[in-house]
Amino acid sequence: MKTILVTGGMGYIGSHTVVELINKKYNVIIVDNLSNSSVEVLNRIEKITSIKPKFYELDCCNINDFKKVFIENKIDGVIHFAGYKAVGEGEKVPLKYYDNNLISFITLLKLMEEYKVNNLVFSSSATVYGQPDTNPIKEDFPFRVVNTYGRTKLMIEDMIRDYTKANPNFNAAILRYFNPIGAHSSGLIGEDPNGIPNNLAPYISQVAVGKLEKLGVFGNDYDTKDGTGVRDYIHVVDLAYGHVLVLDKLFTNSGLVTYNLGTGVGCSVFDVLHAFEKACGFTIPYEIKPRRAGDVAIYYASPEKAYKELGFKTKYDIFDMAKDSWNWQKNNPNGYKK
Ligand code: WQD
Repeated sequence: MKTILVTGGMGYIGSHTVVELINKKYNVIIVDNLSNSSVEVLNRIEKITSIKPKFYELDCCNINDFKKVFIENKIDGVIHFAGYKAVGEGEKVPLKYYDNNLISFITLLKLMEEYKVNNLVFSSSATVYGQPDTNPIKEDFPFRVVNTYGRTKLMIEDMIRDYTKANPNFNAAILRYFNPIGAHSSGLIGEDPNGIPNNLAPYISQVAVGKLEKLGVFGNDYDTKDGTGVRDYIHVVDLAYGHVLVLDKLFTNSGLVTYNLGTGVGCSVFDVLHAFEKACGFTIPYEIKPRRAGDVAIYYASPEKAYKELGFKTKYDIFDMAKDSWNWQKNNPNGYKK
């Protein structure tokens, strides 16, 4: 049984990936500083899988603490989720983002080198593409980062490209996520943002459950079918499964591989809103607001490469995502807080 270390494994995408890894019979170790997650997630993972993964509460930037994990466990691979990921916050406190995101990665890579762990999956983001000239977006599209958060992702990607070039025995997968939404069908784990959600789906969920008054639609004058922004929403369980597939690839000594993980389908804000209304059975109030600074009109993935090389194909559509998000939110109106 191979052992996989998951940094940020108590977070939204991390916890869903831990469940899929356990389902695939991996032994999972979680490292998380709980800065954007709750220890309750561990109990929920156990409820879903009957297994409680070994958990170290620590900051990946602290090499002395982090080293213990590598001393106490024989690790075969690492999936690195830990990092700050709020685009707006990154613009306000860039140094906090550079310090945390880059130092945590460099610390991880140093420990992987010291303890000869040669398989890494990195959680990157479609945000590295900025506003593409065309859609769907392929992996060889130019980088057009437009924010601090995206720059930290691109810098870490560059470190991985340089490191794999200099270390041919090191295998790495860069996964560029589009817009992960949804929740595990059990409704036991889901997205639980701190404070007012920045992202569309958790915002809609909180309006539906009565925590927020109405959705603000950031602009309806984009050059899209209904004027609202179009994105490639991918079910978080599909996304999690993509990580399991790419690990199999790394263990064949693949070297460096890079994949977009999306559905290849673009959905507008109103498509998402209507999917949620269908899922919860009532209309969800909204108002049109000015465009949000930094937003692009349209982006969605070309999922071809992941399909051809990994056999990765998403199973869930936008209604499934809305249904599972709503199921999580209505059973956990305050997220993981009691
Ligand atoms: C989606 C659409 C908004 C909120 C961000 C990050 C990206 C990735 C995913 C980490 C847009 C509209 C949103 C609201 C709205 N995160 N919207 N009202 O901006 O595509 O991507 O999250 O990797 O890096 O940039 O996602 O959900 O914020 O917005 O109308 O209250 O919904 O304008 O068209 P985004 P989002």
